[in-house]
Amino acid sequence: MTKPITVPQPMRIEIASDHAGFDLKCAIVQFLTRQGIGVIDHGAGSASPEASADYPDYAALVAASVSRGTADRGILVCGTGLGMTMAANRFHGVRATLCHDLHMAKISRQHNDANILTLGGRVLETPVALQIVEVWLQTPFDGGRHKPRIQKIDLITKRHA
Ligand code: RB5
Repeated sequence: MTKPITVPQPMRIEIASDHAGFDLKCAIVQFLTRQGIGVIDHGAGSASPEASADYPDYAALVAASVSRGTADRGILVCGTGLGMTMAANRFHGVRATLCHDLHMAKISRQHNDANILTLGGRVLETPVALQIVEVWLQTPFDGGRHKPRIQKIDLITKRHA
């Protein structure tokens, strides 16, 4: 990556992982910090299996901020990204998407206005994950026909929760 990342400012970004996502989370924090992009890190603080950290606890910290509007975007990393996605999407207004490639990262923003990116620390190579983060942060929502569709997601929570 030769070009610096530019994100719409101000963008308040929060990040968290469990133990399985710890190493990738650290790489993402370092990557963003080096680019001058601030990120609030909610933990976990170790990759050690003994310091086993439960992914719903960490998903909730970031998803609550995005849901209440104190964060614009969130990034959550566990072993596969699956558990973080499930937990984060329980929060009203959260659209968490698991992305394993650049196409999914781009479309999750353009079509779904995803506000949380979830990643699998045990499935992705770090350079690919960093590229996904870069594309995901920089891609705007297309709006238009996609807007009423994402509004219908929130209606589901309101009507059926
Ligand atoms: C932890 O072993 C693992 O289950 C977790 O990181 C995640 O992959 C769950 O979805």
